[in-house]
Amino acid sequence: MRADLVLERCDDLATISSSPDSLTRVHLSPEHRAANDMIEGWMREAGLSTWQDAAGNLCGRREGAEHGMPALLLGSHIDTVPDAGRYDGMLGVLLAIGVASRLQGVELPFALEVVAFSDEEGTRFGNALLGSRALAGTWDDAWWELEDDDGLTLADAFVDFGLDPARLPGAFRRREDLVGYLEAHIEQGPILQDADRSLAVVTSIAGARRLELVMTGRAGHAGGTRFEARRDALVGASEVVVAVERISMERGVLGTVGRIDAEPGGVNVIPGRVVFSLDLRAEADADRDAAIDEIVAAATSIAAARGLTFDHRELYRADATYCDPGLRAAVEAGIQATGDEHPLKFWSRAGHDGMAVAAITPIAMLFLRCRDGISHHPDEAVREEDVAAALDAFEAAVRQLAGSRS
Ligand code: GLV
Ligand code: MN
Ligand code: MN
Repeated sequence: MRADLVLERCDDLATISSSPDSLTRVHLSPEHRAANDMIEGWMREAGLSTWQDAAGNLCGRREGAEHGMPALLLGSHIDTVPDAGRYDGMLGVLLAIGVASRLQGVELPFALEVVAFSDEEGTRFGNALLGSRALAGTWDDAWWELEDDDGLTLADAFVDFGLDPARLPGAFRRREDLVGYLEAHIEQGPILQDADRSLAVVTSIAGARRLELVMTGRAGHAGGTRFEARRDALVGASEVVVAVERISMERGVLGTVGRIDAEPGGVNVIPGRVVFSLDLRAEADADRDAAIDEIVAAATSIAAARGLTFDHRELYRADATYCDPGLRAAVEAGIQATGDEHPLKFWSRAGHDGMAVAAITPIAMLFLRCRDGISHHPDEAVREEDVAAALDAFEAAVRQLAGSRS
């Protein structure tokens, strides 16, 4: 398998979108089904036997030297953020299929599986990693009640997709059936580009939390309500947005308000209630948590000063995840096999399926350069030469692991 085919397949997958002029593909949607169908054909061509698991993850497997050996998992996700690029997640799945294809006919001391995870971004239900947490068996039944923007619950979305919530445990994997998990992903940041390098070894994945924040005041007439009498929830929320940036910069963490809904939403109505999001990540969980505490305290005092009330609830939490030294060494050796003797090593600011999979098996990751570090944006771009290097390094990492286990 060559890099040009991997890139062609990224283009093919990018045509499967719920919006005509941009790429958006969310968990358990008709587009998710179409993507699974397309990827299934590629998995079969790569010699994998395929199935969709009880959580909508698409899996492909080839046996090792003996039938039923524990599996090395390779994978990433195929869901997207709204108005996404075409490489975040998808490229990792297609590189994994490329490696499986290249290793056809090579006897391995483990089974090889490729997984296309159904939900990593959390775009539809707010809580991320639903595909990989199902595979890891770290599912919380409270999630069945999560609702999408149309008020459809996760449980109903499973049924609409043809899945049965009661059968979800069928997706859970057992630790003893796995060797480890490797994922290739675009960096989603500028470090590789700035260093003029193609590939890097990931050391750990940032810990993240997502909160829903709600500022409540009182709606009123934009003309008739004096400033002293206003309880403008949007002005209060705006102060919080600015505080999130200030506190994050002071503490060296990454805080983002990506979504804000003002109600009732009339141009001539003072906003009475604002629901907004907070995404907070840091290399260390303690720094993440301290920043959230400070933001919540700041929001509470901003609300008090304006006669508003402030509430928050956590939607998602994933702790910082460290890559396994043995698998990391295999990734490093894989990159070295491409001619980069001293690969860069750094932590991932973005979240990845490995955070969930690490609950049941060791994980490691390979990063490849993306143009200007841009991601979660349609301008995401990669160079064919970097994709070629990633394919070679990923394949070499798997061969290295095979060598160390036989
Ligand atoms: C996933 O891309 C995340 O880091 O939010
Ligand atoms: Mn992403
Ligand atoms: Mn991703």
